[in-house]
Amino acid sequence: MIRELRTISRLCDLIYLVMEFFITLIQIGGTLIAILLLMAIIGLFFKRFRKMGLITLVGLVLLLTLTAVYFLSPRTYDRPYLAQQAQWEGISIREAATEAGIYIGAAVHSDNLYRSELLNSFNSLTPEVDLKLGHLFENEQVGTYDFSTADSIVEYALSNGIRVRGHTLVWGKLSAMFKAPDLDAYLEDFPEAERSSILKNLVDTHIKTVLSHYKGKIPQWDVVNEPLEIMGDGELEENVYLKYLGASYIADAFQLAHETDPDLQLVLNEILFNYQDERAEGFYQLVKQLQADGVPIHGVGLQSHILYTIPSIEALRVYIKRFTDLGLEVELTEVDARLRLFGDAEDPYHAQAEFYGELVQTCLDNPGCTGITFWGISDQSCWMDGQMIFPAPNEPFFYDAEYRMKPVMRVLATILTNAKGSRETIHMVEPATNADSEL
Ligand code: G3I
Repeated sequence: MIRELRTISRLCDLIYLVMEFFITLIQIGGTLIAILLLMAIIGLFFKRFRKMGLITLVGLVLLLTLTAVYFLSPRTYDRPYLAQQAQWEGISIREAATEAGIYIGAAVHSDNLYRSELLNSFNSLTPEVDLKLGHLFENEQVGTYDFSTADSIVEYALSNGIRVRGHTLVWGKLSAMFKAPDLDAYLEDFPEAERSSILKNLVDTHIKTVLSHYKGKIPQWDVVNEPLEIMGDGELEENVYLKYLGASYIADAFQLAHETDPDLQLVLNEILFNYQDERAEGFYQLVKQLQADGVPIHGVGLQSHILYTIPSIEALRVYIKRFTDLGLEVELTEVDARLRLFGDAEDPYHAQAEFYGELVQTCLDNPGCTGITFWGISDQSCWMDGQMIFPAPNEPFFYDAEYRMKPVMRVLATILTNAKGSRETIHMVEPATNADSEL
């Protein structure tokens, strides 16, 4: 153990040195840009230096533009995996995952639900949006429920023996960033003094209605999603729930969910950028406190969107164990590692596959880590595409945009086959008969 700790400490020193180097680089670059900007401004204010000021300013704008174009311009990589499609014919990781005792899941929506690749590769699924608050309301307006779309997904999953993760009952960003529905605007139609009780009633009704509707169909729910401030240091997000219901909105949601359906596995789901910063510590302390307060929390979801930096696998291993040591189950619930992050590798597609293999192996190595869900099936549809903050290629999934297998399929098939029988086989949903799956 001391040897491992010494290795981790040397690793942290190395990471610290690398970060120091990049911070210095940014400081130098930043200082240079600041000096040039100052020179330009001074030059513009003094007639004698105006020409120099103008040239400096134009130079600066040009430099910044070229830098932005370089970083934001899409990259393309060779696809050696295309030559291996024939060899991979027939690879199916769904059965291997079940026999290895782990859920391998995918986020689905109406466009990718009925693909054979779902049935071939996954034993779990998460509706990407259709179980969310606004999508369950007619026209995303608070009021009457329309379960038809979500029911079709859940029914399809059950009839094919696929587990469904419920995502999500209470999510502050949904009514802030995504406005579905815009609860702030909705509440502003009522007197200030009534807003808390109206929101409380809305949330409680939502939890009871949805959990009762899916009782016996969906075994695990992200009761609360992303409670932390996304750019914070572990503090709670100032969202509509915190504003009107206070910090207890989290515990209250779990308590009511448990009272509504005691058989459910109740999960707190969070997006983390690494597993060693203050946000990660804040999330762990929040969960530990909820548990200490007797809140019925059974697991945590570590979303694992790998967006800008590739996290330390060792740090993830340690972080997962911190939660399983509390007796909680852990799932990696929204995995997608942008291909661009592997752009320096000889074969980025293979490097991405290897990384996913490490994630799966890390989960397999801890019996308390019960599943990994990838936030899509094929690169044909990815939530990050088209957003400037995620310069292409993202391509994070098992199949490419033409639904051809990528190296991750081969890597995971090997790992899961080698893990066959190594863990308690997970409880799989028996394919439902028509009568059973009437929702
Ligand atoms: O379905 C409507 C369509 O009818 C309409 O024409 C279109 C344009 O307004 O919007 C469509 O709904 C969009 C929905 O995705 C389905 O595509 C919503 O506007 C859009 O906000 C929604 O984005 C989803 C987002 O959560 C918000 O619900 C993303 O697809 C989904 O990948 C993303 O997933 C989240 C997790 O739930 C939580 N963790 C972070 C993750 C990424 O943001």
